[in-house]
Amino acid sequence: MVKVAILGYGVVGSGVAEVLANHLESIAKRAKEEIRIKYILDIRDFPDSPFADRFTKSFDQIVNDPEVQVVAEVMGGLDPAFDYVKRCLLAGKSVVTSNKELVAAKGAELLKIAQEKNVNFLFEASVGGGIPIIRPISQCLAANDVIEIAGILNGTTNFILTKMIREQMSFEDALALAQKLGYAERNPAADIEGHDACRKICILSSLAYGKHVYPEQVHTEGITKITLQDVEYAASWGGVIKLIGQVKKLDDGRIDVVVAPMFIEENSQLANVDDVFNGILVRGDATGDVVFYGKGAGKLPTASAVVADIIDCVKHFKARKYLYWEDGAEQYVLPYEDSVVSMYIRGHAQDVDAAAEKAGDLFGKIRRLYRDGADEQEFAFVTTQEMKVREIQEKVEALQKSGVSVDSMIRVSDL
Ligand code: HSE
Repeated sequence: MVKVAILGYGVVGSGVAEVLANHLESIAKRAKEEIRIKYILDIRDFPDSPFADRFTKSFDQIVNDPEVQVVAEVMGGLDPAFDYVKRCLLAGKSVVTSNKELVAAKGAELLKIAQEKNVNFLFEASVGGGIPIIRPISQCLAANDVIEIAGILNGTTNFILTKMIREQMSFEDALALAQKLGYAERNPAADIEGHDACRKICILSSLAYGKHVYPEQVHTEGITKITLQDVEYAASWGGVIKLIGQVKKLDDGRIDVVVAPMFIEENSQLANVDDVFNGILVRGDATGDVVFYGKGAGKLPTASAVVADIIDCVKHFKARKYLYWEDGAEQYVLPYEDSVVSMYIRGHAQDVDAAAEKAGDLFGKIRRLYRDGADEQEFAFVTTQEMKVREIQEKVEALQKSGVSVDSMIRVSDL
């Protein structure tokens, strides 16, 4: 029998306990060992929980107990999760986690310790909730050079955007609903400002290209500035707005990585990934496009991935350290301003036709967009010629100097 500990009894932690308890026999068959929860660490009391006798407030009790061989860290955040995970690994315990903040910030360091201590550090649940994506990239697609990864990586923002697109629901109402359903982070700013998606694309980039990408290196925009007007213009262009995390390998060895809302054509595989679902497209040189789709958030989908990692650890004590990447480097990520893109631009001007003409002079051929109910001073267009973000910014400044107010800019994707 293998004894495990769960650090944190929140949404995911309670799901992990539930899945382990409810699937005791089938898990034992797969792991070839019975897996029992010995401790659950939480600062709160849960006297009515079916696991009431396992709760402890002492991390030391767990880390000093040689009987505990696998620890599931599902607390979230860096402090104290980083310290706890590091100490568990140093104590020779395998660790699994759903904590994307931890893996995105400290992955290289923790993977190194795991390797040195001959234990596993697994984090399938950190990206895509219940969707298998870490193992597929590190194992099944290992023969490929990954050209690009692009994904809808945050369920909460996808849920909000879907409600805005399909039901014209207000941003606030959709966010409140997402929180009620348990999708959002404790602090929803992490979702709506794009930080959660940023952490996930950092993990995928690090995994795919073998070098740690830190969240501070990634240009990150959220969805708080997206309006129903933008949603309508995207529809008139022939698509939808999605929050996308994207990374591309460049010929010079650097990577171009970004998190931003993007116009996605309606026939793209990612355009119909709706609600809390995530969709992740991996473009391999041998496979072409492979798309992973499923529930990217929520108690049981995430718990399912955590428990699968626990089983993997139990089946591979002292073996299988297949996850690894080296530390990052400052110059490794292309500066955002050098990224080459097309852009949707919405603004207003006294004379919209003159403004559109000026935009054409500056950007080359543009495609104007229209929507019902727009007032006479509103206008929108997409650039059709790709150029560096810094050039777009310069041209937007020139447009503004000519008396145009620019209210919104959203990247147009080629996905
Ligand atoms: N808040 C996250 C999301 C949870 O909405 O995707 C899963 O990582």
